[in-house]
Amino acid sequence: MEDSVKLLTCFSPDEILSLLSRERHVVVIIDSKVKQLYGNYFPYPQIEIDATENNKTLENLSLIADKLMDAGTDRDSFVLAVGGGITTDIVGFAASVFYRGLRFGFVPTTLLAQVDASIGGKNGVNSNGYKNILGTITQPAFTLLCPAFLETLPMEEFLGGVSEMLKSFVIGDRDSFFKSTALLNGISKRKLQKADIDAIAPYAQKAASIKAAIVERDMYEKGERKQLNLGHTFAHALEKKTGMPHGQAVAIGICMAARLSVKLSLLDDAEAKTIENSFTAIGLETHSPVPASELAKAMIMDKKKSGDTISFILIERIGKCIIHPVNIDALEGVIYDLS
Ligand SMILES: NC(=O)c1ccc[n+]([C@@H]2O[C@H](COP(=O)([O-])OP(=O)(O)OC[C@H]3O[C@@H](n4cnc5c(N)ncnc54)[C@H](O)[C@@H]3O)[C@@H](O)[C@H]2O)c1
Repeated sequence: MEDSVKLLTCFSPDEILSLLSRERHVVVIIDSKVKQLYGNYFPYPQIEIDATENNKTLENLSLIADKLMDAGTDRDSFVLAVGGGITTDIVGFAASVFYRGLRFGFVPTTLLAQVDASIGGKNGVNSNGYKNILGTITQPAFTLLCPAFLETLPMEEFLGGVSEMLKSFVIGDRDSFFKSTALLNGISKRKLQKADIDAIAPYAQKAASIKAAIVERDMYEKGERKQLNLGHTFAHALEKKTGMPHGQAVAIGICMAARLSVKLSLLDDAEAKTIENSFTAIGLETHSPVPASELAKAMIMDKKKSGDTISFILIERIGKCIIHPVNIDALEGVIYDLS
């Protein structure tokens, strides 16, 4: 199994074949929508999956295992996941447990997966209403970043990826935060163009590298890696309460974390406003549609609970975050006015 994070980039999907030329037997597991668009680039046996959050289950993992058997998979086979974060999460898990672990690689096709979900080895499925509650940390042999796939993304999906990209910049790259938000200003009001993808690709690459570097330093989330959960304690509660897509919930979660940081005198109000105004200009949501007190109840059930505290990632300045535990008994009082 891999013990480091390997990011590769490609300018054209045609390069994928040479990457796999030494593999004796490759099985591709591909999101069915992505297969319609890009299936031809992967001339290997393909297993199609309907990549929805509801399908990220153990039952589907078991179906994938059956199909891997049907495809003649053996212990030396290589599994390639092609799709967004749902696909890479479930395929990463399937490959990490099939025959107790097959080698696998990721070709993420959403911005969210390129900057976040396909990097770091966390994989998994949902169970009993809890997101990603079953899974492993197993690194893929590679994650191949190919911006060309992003040209067909619906705007809503693109914006979801933008929030995770900006999350990495709030954690660790002030300069890229300002440069990329300036580039993205007003983007939700236009149709996504190839030129937009070309302009944003270097920033997507930077965000991916920030995550990869953090994971390399703290693969099993003992400390620094927790920072990548910026906005996520709020976001998971929002997703649970409202069913809103992950990326959109993360944008709101980052703004709520910024407001909490101001409330606790860690962050200047002006800096929090900068985050919120940049998000609004891009077309990202900044406020929760449900009261924060309701989110508190969902958070208490969240898996990031450890002992009597919930860890929030708070912002000291754009480019620097800290981990801040809040006692569960005090939670509602601390966050009730942050919606
Ligand atoms: N493992 C991790 O570290 C990690 C981190 C963040 C998020 N996640 C997980 O990632 C998932 C969300 O990922 P996502 O936003 O990529 O969702 P997704 O996989 O559902 O993809 C979003 C939508 O875009 C479509 N799509 C994919 N590629 C496309 C393309 N190139 N052109 C057009 N349409 C395309 C998909 O069919 C789907 O409808 C969640 O389940 C979340 O829990 C995991």
